[in-house]
Amino acid sequence: MSTTACAHPNIALIKYWGKTSRPGNYPATPSLSITLDTLVTTTEVRNCEQADRIFFDDVEASDPTVLACLEEFRADFQIPHLEVHTSNNFPTAAGLASSASGFAALVAAINAHCELGLDHQTQSDRARRASGSAARSVFGGIVALQGPRWVAEQVIEADAWPLRTVIAITTSQKKTVSSSAGMKLSEDTSPYYASWLTSTTTDFKNALTFVQSRDFDALASLAEFSCLKMHGLMLSTNPGLLYWNPATIACLHAIRELRQQGLPVFFTVDAGPQVKAVCLPQAEDPVQRTLQGISGVEQVLATGLGEGAWIVES
Ligand code: PMV
Repeated sequence: MSTTACAHPNIALIKYWGKTSRPGNYPATPSLSITLDTLVTTTEVRNCEQADRIFFDDVEASDPTVLACLEEFRADFQIPHLEVHTSNNFPTAAGLASSASGFAALVAAINAHCELGLDHQTQSDRARRASGSAARSVFGGIVALQGPRWVAEQVIEADAWPLRTVIAITTSQKKTVSSSAGMKLSEDTSPYYASWLTSTTTDFKNALTFVQSRDFDALASLAEFSCLKMHGLMLSTNPGLLYWNPATIACLHAIRELRQQGLPVFFTVDAGPQVKAVCLPQAEDPVQRTLQGISGVEQVLATGLGEGAWIVES
């Protein structure tokens, strides 16, 4: 008997980059994200005899974060050893938040398979321990992750604001520095880290207001500010973290130009070279055409706002 769960990735409009030293993988700043539809991680779990086994796209792998997540469940709930099969319908570990959807799906699958009866907040807490952004993929629509509990919560439902996201994939290669390692390096070496922490808290509060009032223009400016500030922090890390390639930068310029022409669109970029253009529905076609025409853009995907993690079959 096996259980299958799915989850969508999310992208942060107000970014988190940095953790506290408290055990449990707590972010140092609040964050606000949108859960995307179309992109999906599918994870199946079943009991197995001796030790946990993990398969990505049917190839066995040893992933320390997944193994640690299973061990933490086992320590608290005495779950059996599990075989985990997971796959994404999009590039993995390249800045498309595959760890967010991956751990949200894994936690949902374990919860259902082992009949733990955990509510969504507790699942979000479990997912956060493995990957900060995964806490947010437990929920759909627009999602906040903030203290003091550091479990995510839905701010508005997926159908409450028809935001679209056009994703320009500029390479499907895996990133060389993981988010966790990069964050630690920024904390240890960037002269900008302290001001990043204080200013992000203010950005988060303002962004919540803009989402509640559906103020796209104000959110657009603030989200680009948060994104570029995070990448400024990354660049000011020693050695500097540079996740972009030439096509990434060309996309950012093109999106800014479209907004100057009056189209409701803004960009955001996570720890990778892919560009996400968030827009209102009337801008989707021109944004898609523009990004498709940029040299170095390998693929363009369009998504709307998606739902939180769900169980497929049990
Ligand atoms: O989920 P983590 O801990 O791998 O970190 C994700 C960090 C960013 O994607 C760059 C920003 C964010 O808030 O999602």
